[in-house]
Amino acid sequence: QGLVPIEENISLKPYNTFGIDVNAKHFVSVNSIDELKSVLALKNYPRRLILGGGSNMLLTKDQNALVIHVNIKGIEIVSEGNDHVFIKAYAGENWHEFVCYCLDNDFGGIENLSLIPGNVGTAPIQNIGAYGVELKDTFVSCEGISVKTQNLETFSKRDCEFGYRNSIFKQHLKGKYILTSVTFKLTKCNHKLHINYGAITSELSEMNITNPTIQDISKAVIAIRESKLPNPKEIGNSGSFFKNPVIQKAHYSKLLESFSEMPNYPVSEDEVKVPAGWLIEKAGFKGKRFGNYGVHKKQALVLVNYGSAKGEDILNLSKLIQKTVKRLFDISIEAEVNIL
Ligand code: EPU
Repeated sequence: QGLVPIEENISLKPYNTFGIDVNAKHFVSVNSIDELKSVLALKNYPRRLILGGGSNMLLTKDQNALVIHVNIKGIEIVSEGNDHVFIKAYAGENWHEFVCYCLDNDFGGIENLSLIPGNVGTAPIQNIGAYGVELKDTFVSCEGISVKTQNLETFSKRDCEFGYRNSIFKQHLKGKYILTSVTFKLTKCNHKLHINYGAITSELSEMNITNPTIQDISKAVIAIRESKLPNPKEIGNSGSFFKNPVIQKAHYSKLLESFSEMPNYPVSEDEVKVPAGWLIEKAGFKGKRFGNYGVHKKQALVLVNYGSAKGEDILNLSKLIQKTVKRLFDISIEAEVNIL
């Protein structure tokens, strides 16, 4: 079996931010690309599940698979000029710790993505985004191991086909590669600030800051997130459970007749995006608690595990929410988290 010990019947509770207690039939944590390659070469584990920070999944049953925990660490400066730095972070680095490292070095571009749970290696898969910035805005390339050939391959930004909470790794390359590192291009000076997102503007003025640094923006984002989103260390959750749906403008205009205050973000000439949190709140679910699980009090887009909830219960709640939103608004909302 090589050098990496494969464990049996391991609880995945510490490895998913929802805090769901299910078992992995087999489990291995890999600390290097070579270890990952040797595990992938093992023939007797046909079913595999790749685990990064476990912050975007809902586990609904025991996993009859080899769960591979990608724990490859490291941050390297690839090259730098007067204005920019190319920085590479390995997949197992915690996302927020990487953001903090960049802020400590005054590298700008990802400060709006402060405090997003999860690891660097899974961030590109769903193109994480918050407060007017997405991962793709500073992304240069990523590397991944092909599950099939165990070769290390590089993907350019264009290869990744990024979209809203979407990339090629969620589409036709799903399950085919395990990302091992991501390279970003960040600014060393003349940082391009993104402060027009409503909540940031008001948070900065509350902080009495008129000329914000990237560190100030990070502080503002952290304050907003802490006020709205539950800390997974205290209350199990996976951030936004659903994506914000995109609907036809004609449909939206019709809905406005009954719901005149329904918010929207422009998407294209004939489409708008509607905040799912608003729809779910209108549907009466915000803050609803069903025993040890429910809908977060301050942000209806977030489903929470108050204690030892079963993944299946949370899944059923999500289906009830989807059905109710569909009935009330004729809008289908899609899960953002992976249901496993
Ligand atoms: N809203 C409500 N009720 C709620 C929640 C939201 O009416 O319970 C309304 C708000 O009043 C506001 C609008 O919905 O008008 C938008 O709310 P918010 O700014 O909180 O953002 P969001 O659209 O709910 C998205 C992302 C978040 C990200 C924030 C900030 C998705 C699925 N979610 O949420 O991402 O942090 O914007 O940029 O796109 C995540 O992906 O896990 C995540 C937390």
